[in-house]
Amino acid sequence: MVTFADLHGSIVEADSISISKRAIVVGAAPEGASDTESAARAVRQMFSSIAPRYDLLNHVLSFNIDRLWWRRTARSFGDILSQPNAQVLDLCCGTGDLTLALWRKSIRTSSAILGADFAHPMLQRAIDKSTGTSLQWVEADALRLPVSNSQFDLVTSAFGFRNLADYDAGLREIVRVLRPGGECGILDFGEPGGFIGRFYRIYFKHVLPAVGSLISGVQGPYRYLPASVERFPSPQEMLARMERAGFVDVSWTPYTFGIAGLFRGRKS
Ligand SMILES: C[S@@+](CC[C@H](N)C(=O)[O-])C[C@H]1O[C@@H](n2cnc3c(N)ncnc32)[C@H](O)[C@@H]1O
Repeated sequence: MVTFADLHGSIVEADSISISKRAIVVGAAPEGASDTESAARAVRQMFSSIAPRYDLLNHVLSFNIDRLWWRRTARSFGDILSQPNAQVLDLCCGTGDLTLALWRKSIRTSSAILGADFAHPMLQRAIDKSTGTSLQWVEADALRLPVSNSQFDLVTSAFGFRNLADYDAGLREIVRVLRPGGECGILDFGEPGGFIGRFYRIYFKHVLPAVGSLISGVQGPYRYLPASVERFPSPQEMLARMERAGFVDVSWTPYTFGIAGLFRGRKS
């Protein structure tokens, strides 16, 4: 019998069938999760537990580069955001930083921007940070959005998609809620190569979990972060999954040597 857990990106022969480990990744798998439901529950609990320190840790651990990534992502959808009456959904919005960056780039008086997340304490912080804006918020699971079909011109997600319990189901749900021709932008961590990649991996796998656990006072989430990035599909595979879900013109743009990157696609 072949177990898939230890196959690291390689092709393995099993009873004359070639199986790629990447191809069988369904979604996030936090420690102890045995199926998609328990994975989603563990992810929600994890983010709820770190919500009070989430923003501080984000800025400290990324040396504030996170702010540049959110702004760059919002800027890259400037053509949609500058349209009057643009309808935008920011999935897995957390404490709302990308949602706020999108709002700043939009025509504030006429656009409708909605942030969605299933961790109540994260969303509560987004609500507190957005006083005085026209942003709207909904507590919802990204795999079962309480919105009708073909509603949005743009759906985004920053550092959230990787945590979904089922990536293909997540992509299908994004396609469902986008209007034909609407665009999707998924910003997430990558794995830089070369010399920078070697240094970065030491930081990401050892320094970041230690500092994150110390400041948040919670052990699990900052160990889960590097593991979830390692497990996430490569850019090539993610783009193939996007095409299979119904996106065209798919692309991936690396940010900061590939430490992060933006996946884009258009609903055909
Ligand atoms: C790393 S945080 C990112 C937050 C924010 N977008 C940012 O850039 O800082 C991931 C967020 O995704 C949310 N999330 C994960 N899976 C989700 C799901 N299935 N439905 C809704 N939110 C989800 C978590 O609750 C968490 O707030």
